[in-house]
Amino acid sequence: MRIDILTIFPPFFDSPLREGIIHRARERGLLDLRVHDLRAWATDRHRVTDDAPYGGGAGMVMKPEPLSAALEQLRTEHPGARTVLLSPQGRVWNQGLVREYGALPGLILVCGRYEGVDERVIATFIDEEVSIGDYVLTGGETAALVVVETVAREVPGVVGQPESVRQDSFFDGLLDHPHYTRPAEFRGRSVPEALLSGDHAAIARWRRREALRQTLRKRPDLLEKAALTPEDRALLERIKAGDADET
Ligand code: 6GU
Repeated sequence: MRIDILTIFPPFFDSPLREGIIHRARERGLLDLRVHDLRAWATDRHRVTDDAPYGGGAGMVMKPEPLSAALEQLRTEHPGARTVLLSPQGRVWNQGLVREYGALPGLILVCGRYEGVDERVIATFIDEEVSIGDYVLTGGETAALVVVETVAREVPGVVGQPESVRQDSFFDGLLDHPHYTRPAEFRGRSVPEALLSGDHAAIARWRRREALRQTLRKRPDLLEKAALTPEDRALLERIKAGDADET
């Protein structure tokens, strides 16, 4: 998958995109990430990309000319890509959107800065706006990284085994089950017996039950949209009744 990132701070992306899973995916040709400096499309001597807002007020606005020139070029070079503006006005990012984006042929991510982007650029070039949550960032760069990392994990081959993705938190709308490693007892707390049993069916049942318990305890809102089987619902009722202990 190809992802173009348009930013006034290209160095922001240097280390995050050169480490770990993303780095390996790039080296293996699974991810084609290209970071572009918006200033390259500014034509004045000082390579200005912002200007004061019409109507007055604090802050600056990303001016239309450099952004339009950049997007015209990137959209021509990368046909089929969805052009996305990272902004607090966007659809709120979640694992459902991650899956939708993972199936796209490519993305052009525009990192908003200052107080905002001239609305005519949005109307002309932006297919969709995305926000990573209801809080204020200084710019879209951090959000673009979140989008790249989460979407990259959807690209076949990027994350080791498909099985590990299936078991991740949010795969079926639930939180993950708790994890343990050696030693079997630590500071007076033991590893749940089912995990030591070697009985794969018993382990799977324990993990499902504890994923349900963890979700009920920490994020009950997720249960309303989760993909639950009749067995899951019965288990949940037992957990609520205190009739399913954690060992
Ligand atoms: Cl994408 N941009 C900015 N500036 N703030 C945000 C955001 C994006 N998502 C949440 N807050």
